[in-house]
Amino acid sequence: MQRVHTVAAMQQLCRELRERHQSIHLVPTMGALHAGHLSLVRRARQDGGCVIVTIFVNPLQFGPSEDFSRYPRTLEADCALLEQEDVTAVFVPEVAEMYPPGACTTLTVAGLSDRLDGASRPGHFTGVATVVAKLFHAVPADRAYFGQKDAAQLAVIRRMVRDLNFGIAIVGCPIVRDPDGLALSSRNAYLSPQERTQALALQRCLLAMQAALASGIRDTETLLATGHAVLAAEPAVRLDYLAVVDADELLPVPIAVPGTLVAIAAWVGTTRLIDNLLVQA
Ligand code: PAJ
Repeated sequence: MQRVHTVAAMQQLCRELRERHQSIHLVPTMGALHAGHLSLVRRARQDGGCVIVTIFVNPLQFGPSEDFSRYPRTLEADCALLEQEDVTAVFVPEVAEMYPPGACTTLTVAGLSDRLDGASRPGHFTGVATVVAKLFHAVPADRAYFGQKDAAQLAVIRRMVRDLNFGIAIVGCPIVRDPDGLALSSRNAYLSPQERTQALALQRCLLAMQAALASGIRDTETLLATGHAVLAAEPAVRLDYLAVVDADELLPVPIAVPGTLVAIAAWVGTTRLIDNLLVQA
């Protein structure tokens, strides 16, 4: 597995792969890799291309009081995991390589970027869209793999790719969870044992809403009341949002239909966690 540090070297490698008629499958990450990330890598591999993983903790998507400086950075362990997954190359640029002095161009997916996580994290999705666009230019791929775990991010990226004709197929992959149901996240490392137990309330809330859906309840008001009742039993969890929205527009819907997104974000201590489910047929 090659480690590539510059955009120019990454683009050169992609040209060489293309000359050998290899399709290129990209998995963008911020590192601190866990089984959720590795599920994307495996899917990318199964789809038959050579896999390129990017590891870049993107300062542009963190707010001034957020966890950019303490975000877990575990490059050597990450690379050891990726070696085992038969990854062709890992792109690990420095901040100055991605944002050279004077860089001032950003990309905003208007509207979508202000919804769900974008409402409570101003500028976050502009940071995400900008870095993902730059990664797509650094690694001109046929397909790029993203987790359904970050459902709003997936909607923003799909729209950006469509609106700007990136010509990259976006593949959404299912949420990977710990055996007790907690969605895997690099930020779970911040949780104390007590907070980790409290964090299970997010999943309990979604499961209660899923059970209500399975019993035939479709109106958003009743579904939200069901979720809020579960959260009320765990006061240590401070809700940011619980929402029933259209998965493409991220706007509230009055009635849940197949494909509707049920999404939650909450703080457990100082850690902000997200989770979601898609309504089944
Ligand atoms: P990061 O949080 O490292 O996540 C990288 C990818 O892994 C994202 O597509 C995310 O949705 C996916 N992922 C994370 N946890 C998952 C889980 N439990 N199950 C399945 N997939 C999971 O998301 C980012 O980085 C950044 O915003 C990035 C897109 C790299 C831009 O900086």
